[in-house]
Amino acid sequence: MDIPAYVRKKVEELRKEILRHEYLYYVLNKPEITDEEFDKLMRELQSWEKKYPELITQDSPTQRVGGAPLEGFEKVTHSIPMLSLENAYSFEELKEWEERAGKIILDEVWTYVAELKIDGLSISLLYENGILVRGATRGDGITGENVTQNIKTIKVIPLRLRENLKYLEVRGEVYMPWEAFTKLNQEREKEGEALFANPRNAASGSLRLLDPKITAKRNLKAYFYNIVSMDAGVPETQKDILIKLKELGFPVNPLWEHLKNLKEVEEFIEKNKEKRFDMDCESDGIVIKINERKFQERLGTTAKFPRWCIAYKYPSEAKETKIKDIIIQIGRTGTATPVAILEPVQIKGSTIQRATLHNYEDLKRKDIRIGDTVLVEKGGDVIPKVVGVVIEKREKESKPFLMPENCPECGGKLLRIGDEVAFRCTNPSCPAIAQESIIHYAKRDALNIEGLGEKSVSQLFEKGLIKDIVSIYKLKKEDLVGLPLWGEKKAQNLIEAIEKSKKAPLHKFIFGLGIRYVGEKAAKTIAEYSKSLDKFMNLTKEELLQLPEIGETMAESIISFIKSPEVIKLIEELKSLGVEPYCEEEEKKGPLENLTFLITGKLPISREEAKNIIEKNGGRVLSAISKNLSYLIVGEDPGSKLKKAKELGINIINWEEFLKLLQKGG
Ligand code: IVH
Repeated sequence: MDIPAYVRKKVEELRKEILRHEYLYYVLNKPEITDEEFDKLMRELQSWEKKYPELITQDSPTQRVGGAPLEGFEKVTHSIPMLSLENAYSFEELKEWEERAGKIILDEVWTYVAELKIDGLSISLLYENGILVRGATRGDGITGENVTQNIKTIKVIPLRLRENLKYLEVRGEVYMPWEAFTKLNQEREKEGEALFANPRNAASGSLRLLDPKITAKRNLKAYFYNIVSMDAGVPETQKDILIKLKELGFPVNPLWEHLKNLKEVEEFIEKNKEKRFDMDCESDGIVIKINERKFQERLGTTAKFPRWCIAYKYPSEAKETKIKDIIIQIGRTGTATPVAILEPVQIKGSTIQRATLHNYEDLKRKDIRIGDTVLVEKGGDVIPKVVGVVIEKREKESKPFLMPENCPECGGKLLRIGDEVAFRCTNPSCPAIAQESIIHYAKRDALNIEGLGEKSVSQLFEKGLIKDIVSIYKLKKEDLVGLPLWGEKKAQNLIEAIEKSKKAPLHKFIFGLGIRYVGEKAAKTIAEYSKSLDKFMNLTKEELLQLPEIGETMAESIISFIKSPEVIKLIEELKSLGVEPYCEEEEKKGPLENLTFLITGKLPISREEAKNIIEKNGGRVLSAISKNLSYLIVGEDPGSKLKKAKELGINIINWEEFLKLLQKGG
């Protein structure tokens, strides 16, 4: 059917008009029309699109919710890793951070931008030719999940930029406004569903739903704070980045300022201590960034954080409540931790019902008793803790709490070994220890068995389907299908994830074993030295002691672990079930590892940035054509390199193909 020209024009005008009103409303907070008038424009556009479906475009405001539920999320490799932030809890720590930075910047003058730290989940958005083409979660910082369909349902996120940029990648934070959070939890309570502990969990759960139609109803919002690449070049300063983001149509949290020195930063922090509660998002601090990108680049990053920014965390607020009971929780190494069961209390939007009491020594020191009124505090995402007793409110008949002699889970003896503070359950087959070990083994940082979290483990445990790590590998799909909350797809996914975990990097496996004192870093050091599981199992104390950062205590713990007959049996059984961790040759380098590139012609982003992306993902950029070249990336108006590459039969790809390669790896 021929579409009359005036219809095309009308539809495009309507879209532009809607886009403008969305911008006025969501970004500038200055609506010019009423909600009814806005809805009228939307309905008009919808009716045209219904009549002429050929006119529907990806970036039409009517297309925020479309399509059927997804089966799962694709993985996305970030062009530049999404790091996290170092924390400072005092001005003193900010000064130390500044001093460290000063040693690298030397005697040049730098300034700061301070911004509100939004407590949500970070996302990365990609725009091509001005249109939103991909939205991804942070994931583990290197790879995230493709949540484009869900991102599009967030009305404050522009589907089309206000400038027609060829290429743009921005980062920001998706959050759930307080109002939406309270409403959602009220609804869930009515339906008898589990409540979200805080807006951040709610936002994260909502963005990772497989059905975008449900995400659309969750009323998520977002603020943006960074441009990581842009074809016209990223602005020179953080201040200009924030201004540019707003011009492009992104919501930017208004609580930010460009500041000359740390003194002004401190004033900003003081000034906004209370003001942050007026925002519709949860925030526990201020992010301080060195404003000039040339200095940011000079400072670079550590493995985890950029050196040019830091998060100042406000001291957390404490609330009074009463201890109804004190229970003993058994951790994966058998530690018996006293936990306070509280009269529910609201702290910063979450309902707190439990708080850790750390250990019996600490409990005794603070003389915390059942029935006491206590002060409870919650900071960041740590478990709430009891900070002290309100002694005036203690009931007369109260008695000090005594550590039970036996494990509440298995009846085994609770003992203190050597000069340790913690009590431990000494029964090696205590089911609580086994459960915690499985949860740890399956964690993202360990064997990353998605679908084997706390809830599933406890369910499968109760049903007798798993009892230890070995039993995970004996699970069958048929065992799962039909259990409450388990469908065909979920069962299949878990079986696949378990299968995948058989071939995991050795350091993740070692970490997953949950050896006392062995964290991720030590596991890496040990794996790099051992190179194989067999060698690991035969390490000697002397060998361990010569490795960096491994001391007497850790070495002893490892030796007593690998020499224990139960562990030897465990490893043998795992091997016979096909578990075969491998050792990565060097540090994980990214999807472009071992690949070389050369660029010719004009790309959607600057050469410098393209080079950066390649190198950050493990690839190398060559300076001339050679036989060893893996790929020639061709942009607009390519030079003579193209001809040469063709002669040599080298792979030739364009920018889109390169991005796909980044996704898939070489
Ligand atoms: S800058 C290298 N600015 O906080 C990361 N992050 O705790 C640079 N966040 O992962 C991030 N508000 O998700 C930045 N104004 C802000 C932020 C912010 C919230 C999040 C971000 C980051 C997390 C670290």
